[in-house]
Amino acid sequence: MTATVLVIGAAGKTGRAVTRALLERGARVRAAVRPGSTSEPYAAELVSPVTVDLETGLGLERALAGADAVYHLAPNVHPDEVGMARRVADAAGAAGVSRFVFHSVLHPDDDAMPHHVRKGEAERLIRVRLPGATVLRPAAYHQNVLGSALGGRIRVPYSLDAPFTNVDLDDVAEVAARVLTECGHEGRSYDLVGPERYSVRELAAVAADVLGREVVAEQIPLSEWLAGPGGGLGEERTAALLAMFEAYDREGFADESDDLERLLGRRPATWRGVVLRAVT
Ligand SMILES: NC(=O)c1ccc[n+]([C@@H]2O[C@H](COP(=O)([O-])OP(=O)(O)OC[C@H]3O[C@@H](n4cnc5c(N)ncnc54)[C@H](OP(=O)(O)O)[C@@H]3O)[C@@H](O)[C@H]2O)c1
Repeated sequence: MTATVLVIGAAGKTGRAVTRALLERGARVRAAVRPGSTSEPYAAELVSPVTVDLETGLGLERALAGADAVYHLAPNVHPDEVGMARRVADAAGAAGVSRFVFHSVLHPDDDAMPHHVRKGEAERLIRVRLPGATVLRPAAYHQNVLGSALGGRIRVPYSLDAPFTNVDLDDVAEVAARVLTECGHEGRSYDLVGPERYSVRELAAVAADVLGREVVAEQIPLSEWLAGPGGGLGEERTAALLAMFEAYDREGFADESDDLERLLGRRPATWRGVVLRAVT
């Protein structure tokens, strides 16, 4: 039988990748988008858009009715991440949805980063309500810097020499689609890290080698980030991201785990492979 999966945040970076991977596995997707959103969810025949407001829970009951599984993620560094997890888990429990997968982050509970602490709290809350839930903990995505690498200049407000074990978002999405449609992952948590440890300086050098042209790595001052991409995010989100940059300066964001390779049944994508795929 074709599984129907509700994907929360389906119009966002992660949600679109998960939707695409689910469609590739033959699942039917209900794409949950924010009411009034101008972002389009993945356009395909097997996708039906539904509106869900994670801040109030409005729309969840209808979106979950008859679904076989739900993929829950919170909008990036959202201050109400724990409340959102509670609303979705409670609604999924009430609707009797048997499979629940939560998109967390590598190193939840890292108290240097408030949004990681919230992910840890959300994980525990979900586990209490839905003990069979599966948790995915991805490292930072290669796709966060892919566009700027292709454009010839990676600009970040943290150290160019800190180590990262970034992961390919498409690999994360493939794993998400598997655990949403296969048995055997109930109650498990998986750390999804990439196969290499690179600094931003090294990411730029590898990208330059693949592209055959210069790719500059540049550390921008925090004042410039605050006046540009970091502007208008609101006090809590800005504070969380500044804390994250500080943590990156101190120790980067890296770990080791073979969970991703085991779940994929193949070697995870390398940064070189991700850049190459983007230009071929
Ligand atoms: N980026 C990374 O490297 C990384 C790594 C590990 C984990 N994560 C985690 O992945 C999660 C998703 O990140 P992302 O980059 O995919 O985020 P994103 O692109 O911002 O997508 C989030 C989606 O949530 C929707 N949304 C916002 N407010 C909502 C509301 N009140 N109700 C319903 N939907 C709402 C947004 O809708 P609109 O499009 O309409 O705004 C957007 O489509 C985050 O929790 C992040 O911490 C990210």
